[in-house]
Amino acid sequence: MTNNWNRKDQHIHFAEMQYQSNSSNGLDGIRFIHQSFAEIKTEDVKLNTRLDSLKLDYPFFINAMTGGSDKARIINENLAIVARETNLAMAVGSVSTALQSPELNDSFKIVRKMNPNGLIFSNLGAHHSLENAKRAVDLLEANALQIHVNTPQELVMPEGDRDFTNWLKNIEIIVNELDVPVFVKEVGFGMSKETIRRLLDLGVNVIDVAGRGGTNFIHIENERREEKEFDYLLNWGQTTAESLLEAHFYRKQADFVASGGIKNPLHMLAAFGLGAKAVGISGEFLHMILTEGNEASIKKIERWKNELRALMTMIGSSSISDIENKPIILSSELTNWCHQRHID
Ligand code: FNR
Repeated sequence: MTNNWNRKDQHIHFAEMQYQSNSSNGLDGIRFIHQSFAEIKTEDVKLNTRLDSLKLDYPFFINAMTGGSDKARIINENLAIVARETNLAMAVGSVSTALQSPELNDSFKIVRKMNPNGLIFSNLGAHHSLENAKRAVDLLEANALQIHVNTPQELVMPEGDRDFTNWLKNIEIIVNELDVPVFVKEVGFGMSKETIRRLLDLGVNVIDVAGRGGTNFIHIENERREEKEFDYLLNWGQTTAESLLEAHFYRKQADFVASGGIKNPLHMLAAFGLGAKAVGISGEFLHMILTEGNEASIKKIERWKNELRALMTMIGSSSISDIENKPIILSSELTNWCHQRHID
């Protein structure tokens, strides 16, 4: 089995290497109709939102990435400082390694230490028990737990899981027993309406569709292999836009998070237009921290908040939840997706 310390560092390395890839999350295929009369004031635009019982001051957050190595600790420390200074919520990467090896705890706990009052989400895979879910929350005094579902990643990873028989049962137990909100998230392969229906039936209230078009874990795990066996599989899964369309019918039954290749406030606006309540960003924030540093990252995030307010003014929406009421046009590719998948 590959050493976990190496694995976490390799994930960071290969994620950053693929930053420039020109894959699309499909959100450019969603266009708002320009209207000449906004009829609102920018100063009245509110960016706050809710995910289950959690109140977020801003509708985008730092999504799950890392922990479990010295390098990951430094990245988590920097991300936590940026989250604290900008008041963004933040998820850590899977804490699974820390549950097995307590000497790795600090690379996760640093996030709470740097940001004692922030909204922090812990993260675990769906093969974990309720007891581990409780430990994952306690480790960070987390405000929520993200459970990730990542079958393609596990299968491309030589040391990954091969038994997926208990995931739904585990999720059901954790959702019913944990006393903080539980989010279920993909890791960049998107979700289908069938998957979403299964999660709603289990009582899941927050679903992060995490679509294709940003960080690609088939690519990353393939790069870690000596034999590049799966290089024909890079387009597996639904894009972020397709996943949000899959979720559309269910958007009143759970709070949806959009993630996967989100790189700017216009992507965010498109996601909110399809009913997302919040947006998660991983690869873009990793790149910012590694290449621009904390101060420039903080400035950019503040600029994004202002730009998002400007875009919302342009479409005449003073709240995140109003954005989905504005008329949009879908590209012919997305229209075709809706047609074949019987999505109205
Ligand atoms: C991730 N992601 C991730 N997700 C998760 O639930 N648990 C994890 O441990 C990790 N680890 C991880 C490491 C690194 C280096 C990256 C870049 C990402 C996946 C992440 O949360 C997200 O779902 C995808 O990366 C898609 O979003 P972006 O990167 O395209 O914004």
